[in-house]
Amino acid sequence: MSAASDFGHLSVLYRQSLEQLAIDPAGCYIDCTLGGGGHSSGILSKLGPQGHLYGFDKDQDALRAAATKLESIHSPATVHLIHRDFSEIAQACIEQQIPQVNGLLADLGVSSWQLDQAERGFSYSHDGPLDMRMNQTAGQTAAELVNTASEAELTRILLDYGEERYARRISQAIIRYRNEQPFATTAELAAVVKRAMPGQGLKEAQHPAKRTFQAIRIAVNGELSALESLLKALPDILAPGGRACIITFHSLEDRLVKEAFRRWESPCTCPREFPVCICGQKSLGKMISKKPIIADDQEMKENPRARSAKLRVFAKGAV
Ligand SMILES: C[S@@+](CC[C@H](N)C(=O)[O-])C[C@H]1O[C@@H](n2cnc3c(N)ncnc32)[C@H](O)[C@@H]1O
Repeated sequence: MSAASDFGHLSVLYRQSLEQLAIDPAGCYIDCTLGGGGHSSGILSKLGPQGHLYGFDKDQDALRAAATKLESIHSPATVHLIHRDFSEIAQACIEQQIPQVNGLLADLGVSSWQLDQAERGFSYSHDGPLDMRMNQTAGQTAAELVNTASEAELTRILLDYGEERYARRISQAIIRYRNEQPFATTAELAAVVKRAMPGQGLKEAQHPAKRTFQAIRIAVNGELSALESLLKALPDILAPGGRACIITFHSLEDRLVKEAFRRWESPCTCPREFPVCICGQKSLGKMISKKPIIADDQEMKENPRARSAKLRVFAKGAV
């Protein structure tokens, strides 16, 4: 099952995330990625008068949509909406006096709503300004990035964040184009990528610019470094017995989450042959299921975004 929000975004792995969060009606929860408030509505509807929900998003439009959606729940719990990058969550928890929480959810990436807004510049299929910033008020736009990055830097971005096998051809084509005129729109970038593709690349089922757009979006929004900062802060944010649920959409993100959860579960660095541990590193808790939780066939059919989604869950040990 998935939950539709009025935002036009279907919440991925909705039932599974809520089950894993095992909401305590009097508990405190953080949603790092409010989006349209789909997952948060589910959390909120299970909270009682002593419950608190702290919702983060760095996109003002998402916060507004989530506020409307969450008001419609008429929950007795207290809702705190925070316009901030979750990479700053440790600092935000101190400043906003957020106590250690019973659960934290992060549903990474962009929402379908953001993708569908041509003026936000995320999509190769809607022409708009080449922007791609989730936070419309800060940072470099995608146009600034593609108009200034070196060929080597562009190639690295396309390889690392898009696993684009034609990275070099595409970055050379980008440089050639911008030597004539700077990129301003998503349609220009999509057309240049398409022209740079060899015939083989054009036979793929997906749009030829899909991987390039994903890679540039990840670079523009610092998505991997934000996830690293979140993972660094997470153990201290969770209360004993608290759970973290993280939904990722590509292998780079999933690897970071899987490795962090493994390290927290088994941090001992002693050589295997040592009869007892001498490094003194104590386990922080348990990874819930070694394999990630994925969408069932029905959800994948209803929501193509769910096809690449992986949910990993960590439960902090009780002390
Ligand atoms: C996939 S959507 C979340 C959808 C939401 N779970 C729902 O059910 O409606 C991801 C949201 O997280 C936000 N986001 C992504 N990275 C972020 C970050 N580093 N800090 C704060 N918000 C972020 C995006 O702006 C977007 O609104």
